[in-house]
Amino acid sequence: MREYLIAGNWKMNLGRTESVYLARELADKIPANDAVETVLIPTFVHLDAVHQAIASSALKLGAQDVYYEKKGAFTGEISPAMLKEVGVQFVLVGHSERRHILGETDALLNQKTRAAIAEGLSVVLCVGETLPERQSHQTNEVVARQLAGGLAKVDSDMVQLRRLVIAYEPVWAIGTGLTATPQQAQAVHSFIRQRLTDLYGTSLARTIRIQYGGSVRKANAADLLAEADIDGLLVGGASLAADEFADIVRAAEQVKGKK
Ligand code: PGA
Repeated sequence: MREYLIAGNWKMNLGRTESVYLARELADKIPANDAVETVLIPTFVHLDAVHQAIASSALKLGAQDVYYEKKGAFTGEISPAMLKEVGVQFVLVGHSERRHILGETDALLNQKTRAAIAEGLSVVLCVGETLPERQSHQTNEVVARQLAGGLAKVDSDMVQLRRLVIAYEPVWAIGTGLTATPQQAQAVHSFIRQRLTDLYGTSLARTIRIQYGGSVRKANAADLLAEADIDGLLVGGASLAADEFADIVRAAEQVKGKK
């Protein structure tokens, strides 16, 4: 029922030539598929070039961040409308690197979420606990707080049309080679689904996709996706290699075929 969403977050890793090359390779390797939506998320300055490279493919374009104002004196920031202009359909909000390195707060992320959805973009709101938070059994509390903060005043109308995606990314699993087990991930995903149900009711909550992220590889993709509430993957390091990422998308197609 929920189409999988597989997204490659390239972070601040690739130059222009590498970005276009990788995008072209992926455009060739990943055919259109009804069960899986695939999104490439390059850095801002290469959005335009990547958009052109994937123009005649099934791949979609995402941005790593967004600002909440429409225009004005906000040096260095980029508005939702500007992203749309270069073909962006998805935007990450609250990636843990922005929360922890750049100090972004739930209140700021809420403004970004609302502005991007209002402009017609789909928001991937990222949540997840740190290792000390997990070890002190605060995972659900942290995730609940991030969801409540990020989704304040985001009402049912705004989340229709698949405008909202949640990405559960345990901070201790990002770029570390440590992955949550499918069971650990499913436990948090099901908790997130419950919070979404409280906010939006059962039928709407059932349509909202919840991605897992954190050291996803082709070797663990299928097992994670086999879980009931894991509806896609947010892939960092493994999205920088064309074959590995294409294999993850293929694994998703196969799991979807069986689910
Ligand atoms: P990783 O990153 O796959 O390299 O762990 C995931 C992410 O940060 O989105």
